[in-house]
Amino acid sequence: MAAYDYETHTFDAIVIGAGGAGLRATLGLAEQGLKTACITKVFPTRSHTVAAQGGIAASLSNMGPDHWQWHMYDTVKGSDWLGDTDAMEYLAREAPKAVYELEHYGVPFSRTETGTIYQRPFGGHTTEFGEGPPVQRTCAAADRTGHAILHTLYGQSLKQKAEFYIEYFATDLIMSEDGQCQGVLAWKLDDGTLHLFNAKTTVLATGGYGRAYFSATSAHTCTGDGNGMVARQGLPLQDMEFVQFHPTGIYGAGCLITEGARGEGGYLTNSEGERFMERYAPTYKDLASRDVVSRCMTMEIREGRGVGPKGDHIHLHLNHLPPETLDLRLPGISESARIFAGVDLTKEPIPVLPTVHYNMGGIPTNYWGEVLKPTADDPDAIVPGLMAVGEASCASVHGANRLGSNSLIDLVVFGRAAAIKAGQVVDPNTANAPMNQASVQSALDRFDTVRHSDGGTPTADLRDEMQQAMQDDAAVFRTDKTLAEGVKKMTDIAAKLDDIKVTDRSLVWNSDLMETFELANLMPNALATVVSADARKESRGAHAHEDYPDRDDEKWRVHTLAKVTGNRTELSYRPVHTDPLTSEEEGGIDLKKIAPKARVY
Ligand code: FUM
Repeated sequence: MAAYDYETHTFDAIVIGAGGAGLRATLGLAEQGLKTACITKVFPTRSHTVAAQGGIAASLSNMGPDHWQWHMYDTVKGSDWLGDTDAMEYLAREAPKAVYELEHYGVPFSRTETGTIYQRPFGGHTTEFGEGPPVQRTCAAADRTGHAILHTLYGQSLKQKAEFYIEYFATDLIMSEDGQCQGVLAWKLDDGTLHLFNAKTTVLATGGYGRAYFSATSAHTCTGDGNGMVARQGLPLQDMEFVQFHPTGIYGAGCLITEGARGEGGYLTNSEGERFMERYAPTYKDLASRDVVSRCMTMEIREGRGVGPKGDHIHLHLNHLPPETLDLRLPGISESARIFAGVDLTKEPIPVLPTVHYNMGGIPTNYWGEVLKPTADDPDAIVPGLMAVGEASCASVHGANRLGSNSLIDLVVFGRAAAIKAGQVVDPNTANAPMNQASVQSALDRFDTVRHSDGGTPTADLRDEMQQAMQDDAAVFRTDKTLAEGVKKMTDIAAKLDDIKVTDRSLVWNSDLMETFELANLMPNALATVVSADARKESRGAHAHEDYPDRDDEKWRVHTLAKVTGNRTELSYRPVHTDPLTSEEEGGIDLKKIAPKARVY
């Protein structure tokens, strides 16, 4: 039994992670007078939301007609009919309110000539239930929208007296004997002390796990920490097979060139100078949804029409746009293109390649952010005291494929929803229950075991192996063969966690130890992804299975649940919610409009 001193902190609510979802939840909790802490491994304004560029979707109708039902329709279609209808309605309906709240909190949105919030087109966002032209729905602060939102929400959270525990790494959840979440154990990185946070509600807002792959637009901090903590408690992860490749990562460097570039008039060409998207998606062309564009680019490259000496990437043109538009609307990517591709985008195309960008799957929740522990009797049973929001969660609002700019709106709509729900459930006037000492001890024991790992495999080597296997075998296109190989490789790689070697045993700024904890979190994410993908014998959204090219709603319109224990993964399934929140008579969407059909752009 490991013996460590630790300090105990008691709160009504704690939020793990300080990206857009975490900060919006923190702010909402603190505003209601709940004693709230936000625990984050990086300084809040360095969370990965800071890198979000193009914008946040809401049907404000500032640039032309729009409607929340059109937004809902686009989200349903974008999800390839795997999203939960109640969650998608909640997102589309609440989006305008959530954006106006951001505006009033102080987010410096770009403006139209009349002073309203500027909105740009983004892929898959349309008018008239997909029958009309593209809509300008994506509200933008130039191409630094995430940066603007994050700074505003952090300032507002401080104003509401939320307490921040910055550069604290949460290692494990603490659970009561009867399965209620009671808080977390965290390691303070700069002085090596341990901290136990006792909370009536714990909100996981730990982001995605893009770094399970070799090349990703995600920051190196995107290591699926909340998902890892949940998996270690024997709880399932949902729809992990759906990994989004953003069409325009900079070739080589992997960093993002926003879809807003195509929204502002950019277009893709192959080695023949052809605007090939016109062939694949005659109506919406370069503004088809991301999974579609990424697949088309990959097909062009495979068929020998890639650009560059190796024919292994595609060109994105912005050089036809007026330099003043680029300066005003896309200043950030002008700089990224110069620094990371050596390209002056007023003169030359940018070399781009589909790059891992977003995880549709994650911790299953309802649309209030309550974490689910589905049982045979109740597929929507919740884990008391535990919530998840943002990319860590799977509400499921994005289903099999997320639309661009539906992520930032997901963060704030569901961060806010979780705070509202917690406000109803948490009583600030009662005392916190004492923490389950067995669970505390088990978290301390694991901390000690990882710290003293003395095997033969350095963390960086094992991480490389995992990232390469995922890159090779869980890619844009998948086959039975690549997935079977991926499952075999990942099962072997995950087993090697038992042979990990940590060389530095100290507790102060020990990046070796922290990266080992992160790798241990990435591993169940990676394994769940490839095993869930191998089992799904159809193509849907971002899961493009070449041996099963069609969507099969009869058999596969279900959410995958993956429970990972060590290097074993057990799969089960739960139904998709097909009922909306509001009936048509009460002003809800006509269900015939969102009935499954072929998904063409
Ligand atoms: O392309 C982008 O600006 C990314 C936006 C998103 O992922 O929603």
